[in-house]
Amino acid sequence: MKLFALESLLFLVFFTGCSGQGDVLPDGRVDAILGRNVTLKTLLDKPLYAFITWAYSDGKEQDTVATVSPTKLRISEAYKGRVSLNATNGFLTLGPLKAEDSGDYSITIIHPDVDTRTGEVKLRVLEPVSEVAIESDLAEAVEHNSTVVLTCSAKGSFLKFTWTNGTTPVVADGKRFTLKEGESSSTLTVAGVLRSDLVGPIYCTAANALETEKSAPFNLTVHYGPDSIAISPPNPPQFIKSGSNFSLTCSARSSPPATFTWHHDQDLMEASGTVLTLEVIQKNGYGKEMAGYACRAKNAKTQRLVSSPVISFAVMDAIVGATITGPTAVLIAGNSSANLSCRATAGTVNTKVWLKDGQPLTAGSRVVFAANMSSVSIDPLQKEDNGKYTCQLSNPVNMAEVVYNMMVNYGPETPMVTGEKAVEVKDPVTLVCSASSVPAATFTWKFNGTATDVKTAEYHIEKVAYKNTGTYTCEAQNAVTNKTSSYTHSLSVKEEGALDEGLSDGAIAGIVIAVLVALGIAIGLIFYCRQKVPVESPY
Ligand SMILES: *[C@@H]1O[C@H](CO)[C@@H](O)[C@H](O)[C@H]1NC(C)=O
Ligand SMILES: *[C@@H]1O[C@H](CO)[C@@H](O)[C@H](O)[C@H]1NC(C)=O
Ligand SMILES: *[C@@H]1O[C@H](CO)[C@@H](O)[C@H](O)[C@H]1NC(C)=O
Ligand SMILES: *[C@@H]1O[C@H](CO)[C@@H](O)[C@H](O)[C@H]1NC(C)=O
Ligand SMILES: *[C@@H]1O[C@H](CO)[C@@H](O)[C@H](O)[C@H]1NC(C)=O
Ligand SMILES: *[C@@H]1O[C@H](CO)[C@@H](O)[C@H](O)[C@H]1NC(C)=O
Ligand SMILES: *[C@@H]1O[C@H](CO)[C@@H](O)[C@H](O)[C@H]1NC(C)=O
Ligand SMILES: *[C@@H]1O[C@H](CO)[C@@H](O)[C@H](O)[C@H]1NC(C)=O
Ligand SMILES: *[C@@H]1O[C@H](CO)[C@@H](O)[C@H](O)[C@H]1NC(C)=O
Repeated sequence: MKLFALESLLFLVFFTGCSGQGDVLPDGRVDAILGRNVTLKTLLDKPLYAFITWAYSDGKEQDTVATVSPTKLRISEAYKGRVSLNATNGFLTLGPLKAEDSGDYSITIIHPDVDTRTGEVKLRVLEPVSEVAIESDLAEAVEHNSTVVLTCSAKGSFLKFTWTNGTTPVVADGKRFTLKEGESSSTLTVAGVLRSDLVGPIYCTAANALETEKSAPFNLTVHYGPDSIAISPPNPPQFIKSGSNFSLTCSARSSPPATFTWHHDQDLMEASGTVLTLEVIQKNGYGKEMAGYACRAKNAKTQRLVSSPVISFAVMDAIVGATITGPTAVLIAGNSSANLSCRATAGTVNTKVWLKDGQPLTAGSRVVFAANMSSVSIDPLQKEDNGKYTCQLSNPVNMAEVVYNMMVNYGPETPMVTGEKAVEVKDPVTLVCSASSVPAATFTWKFNGTATDVKTAEYHIEKVAYKNTGTYTCEAQNAVTNKTSSYTHSLSVKEEGALDEGLSDGAIAGIVIAVLVALGIAIGLIFYCRQKVPVESPY
C-alpha cells in the first residue's frame, strides 16, 4: 500500500514535471576545490532501484564512474580509491579532485517497475585561491606627479578581485582611480597620487565561488612637500640683545624630511639645520645692521623648494659698565659747582636721562646739560641740590642705571629758639635752639653777651632766679662752611604769682560745666513734679 503510493507519486512527478532531471539532482552547478572531495548529492530518499549508475562526460565521451545495486557496488578501474557511492541515497563522493574531474556527471536510476530516471549535474573543479600579492610599478612616488600602477595577482580559478584602503573599498572614480580586471590579476591605477592615497594600508582580495584570500598589507611611500613652512618666532623684536639666547626655528611638512638652508638678505649663510642661533649669525659676521633672515626647505625626492617669510632684526650690544662721576671735593652751597658725567664701558647708548630724587632733572640757569646729555653741570650749587642723582642709559635691549649722592654743605641758617619769654622765679626754664645746616650745626650760648659753658642745643635752668633775666644768644656754627649764625632770645624772671592772672582756662571750663549740670537737674525736677499733679483737660 505504502509502496504503491510512492510509486504513483513518482509517476505523477515524472509525467507532470517539465524537468524530470530536477527531481533527481538539484539545479545548478557544483563547484569544488582541487585536491578536496566533493559529494554530488541527489534529491532521493531511499529510492527503489535495481541499479544506480553515475557516469562522467567531458563533452566527448562518457565513462561509467560507479554502479550500485542493492547488493553490490562496482567502481570503474579509473576511479578506484577515489569514489564512494552511498547505496541508501545515491550520493557520489569523489576525491581528491583533479582538474580533469571537471565535467558533466549523470545519474541513471533503473527499476523494472518504475521508469528509468536520469539527472545531470556540472562539476567545476576550482584551483584554490593562493599567492595573492600586490606589486607596484614604482618603489616610491612623488605626490601630484606620479601615476602609480598597483597589480594584484593570485593563483586560482575564476577569480574576482576587490581592493580596499584599510577597510574602505576602493572604487574607480573615473578620475584618479581606475580599476582593470585581467585573467588572474587586477590593476589599480592612481593618477596624481596623494600622500594619503596608499597608506591605508591597501589590501587586495581575490575570491572565487568557494574561497577568499586577502593580500598582505601594502604601503607605498609617497614623497611630498615641503609645505606649510613656518619660521618662529614670527615677530621677534626689532633689536636682539647681543649674546642672548635667541634663535630662529624653521619647520616644514615634508617626506622625506626637508633640508634647510638659511639666508641673510638673499645670501646663503654658513648654517644648516632647522635652528639658526644668534651665535651663528654673529659668527657669520651679521647682525650689526638691520637685515632680513629666511630659511628655505628643500625635499631631495620631490625636488621642491619653499622659502619662509623674511624675519628682520638687528643685533645690539647691551649697555654695560655704566659709571657716574661727580665732584669728589667738599661742596659748599653758593661757592662750589658740580659736574656730573655718565658713561658706559660698552654697548650702544641711545638715550640718556637724568633724574634727581626720582624726578626728571630740569635744565635751568644753574643746571646745564651737555649737548649729548653725557654730563650736567650745576653752578653754583645750592642747598636744594642735595639728593640722589640717577643717570639712566638705555637702548632697545637694556637699560643701565647709576646713582650719585650729592652732598652740598650749607648753613647754618638763622637759628630758631623756642622757650618761655617770662617765667616766675623758681620755675624751670628750657630754651631749645635749632638751625638748618649741613653738616649739623654745633651750638654755643651767650648770656647778656657773655659766653657760657653750655654747648648743646638746649639751655636748661632748673630753678630760675632773678639774676637769670637777660638775653640768651644761641650761636650755631658749621665746621665745614665755617659760618656762624645767631639768634637772641629775652627772658624775664618775675616774682611768685605775678603771672597767675585770674583763673586758668581749665578752671573756667570746670565752672561752666558745673553750672550747666545744675541747671539741667533743676529743669528735670520741675517736669517731674508737674507730672505727679493730675491736671484736668480744659476741653
Ligand atoms: C576523500 O575521499 C577519499 C576516498 O574517497 C577518502 O579516503 C577520504 O577520507 C576523503 N576525505 C574527506 C575529507 O572526506
Ligand atoms: C548513506 O546515506 C545515509 C542517509 O543519508 C546515511 O545514513 C549513511 O550513513 C550513508 N552511508 C555512508 C556509508 O556514508
Ligand atoms: C602602512 O602605513 C600605515 C600608516 O602609515 C601604518 O600604520 C602601517 O603599519 C603600514 N604598514 C606596513 C605594512 O608598512
Ligand atoms: C635657550 O632657550 C631655549 C628655549 O628658549 C632653551 O631650551 C635653552 O636651554 C636655552 N639655552 C641656554 C643656554 O640658556
Ligand atoms: C612634478 O611636476 C612638475 C610640473 O608638472 C615638474 O615641474 C616637476 O619637475 C615634477 N617633479 C618631479 C620630481 O618629477
Ligand atoms: C668761596 O670761594 C672763594 C673764591 O671763589 C674762596 O676764596 C673762599 O675760600 C671760598 N669759601 C669757602 C668756604 O670755600
Ligand atoms: C664737565 O665735564 C665735561 C667732561 O669732562 C666737560 O666737557 C665740561 O666742560 C665740564 N663742565 C664743567 C662745568 O666743568
Ligand atoms: C659728549 O660730548 C663731550 C663733549 O661735549 C665729549 O667729550 C664726550 O665724549 C661725548 N660723549 C659721548 C658719549 O658722545
Ligand atoms: C643782663 O642784662 C639785663 C638787661 O639788659 C639786666 O637787667 C641784667 O641785670 C643783666 N644781668 C646780669 C647778671 O648782668
